[in-house]
Amino acid sequence: MDDGYLVLMDARGRRHWVPPADGVVRVDGLGAVDATRIRASVGRRIEIGGRPFLVLRPSLEDALGSLEREAQTIGAKDIGALLLRIGAGPGARVLEAGTGSGSLTMALAHAVGPAGALVSCDLRREAIDVARRNVERAGLAGRVDFRVADVRKGVPDRDLDAIVLDIPDPWAAVPAAWDALRPCGHLATFSPNMEQVKETAKALRAKPFVGVRTIEVIEREMEVRDVGVRPSHAALGHTGYLTFARKVLDTF
Ligand SMILES: C[S@@+](CC[C@H](N)C(=O)[O-])C[C@H]1O[C@@H](n2cnc3c(N)ncnc32)[C@H](O)[C@@H]1O
Repeated sequence: MDDGYLVLMDARGRRHWVPPADGVVRVDGLGAVDATRIRASVGRRIEIGGRPFLVLRPSLEDALGSLEREAQTIGAKDIGALLLRIGAGPGARVLEAGTGSGSLTMALAHAVGPAGALVSCDLRREAIDVARRNVERAGLAGRVDFRVADVRKGVPDRDLDAIVLDIPDPWAAVPAAWDALRPCGHLATFSPNMEQVKETAKALRAKPFVGVRTIEVIEREMEVRDVGVRPSHAALGHTGYLTFARKVLDTF
């Protein structure tokens, strides 16, 4: 995330993205600003139009938190648990469907690194267009092979290390996922409803998969101050269930 956008953060924590250019550029919410002055002030406080801002290099979480949305996204709390459990690391070969707004796409592209390979499929070209813009802004362009495809109808790729399904009927893509994974490769699905989880588990048990399990990740923010440190009153909202399995060639 070092080679591109910068973020101007105001005193309330609101973030404005500054495109990777010098001279006068347009920034959403602020209008025309001097990008050259901003680029020379990373980590510092500057005044723009009489208001103070901190100039920050965006983190991956900044990018996830401010992406252009066109579908429900997977957020940071679920992404963290998912990446670890599918072993998404440098050099991994991963496929995901659907792309949606590209929130998970950005995290996967970041995790597999330049030596890895990420294929991202969606039925809809509009979703891919939005996701492509989000991935570019995060400085991860070139790491994702976007495809308009229905993952239930088959995946041409083989020997993948991991597949992630965030589609309404992931169970319908389980046979194609098994074919495309390498032995011991990871499959993960993200579903908001228990009915989806049940169907998915049934499909996984009908194929040689091991370690079939489902979790819900619950995250609570703490309010840390001089007196009265306690969990935030913000509601514990439901996002979705993560189901995991690993492909094997034989079963007991
Ligand atoms: C909830 S969104 C995915 C959000 C995405 N994971 C993110 O974090 O931004 C679901 C997407 O799956 C796509 N989709 C639905 N069925 C599909 C299928 N069979 N193959 C590929 N994409 C599919 C939809 O078009 C939609 O964009």
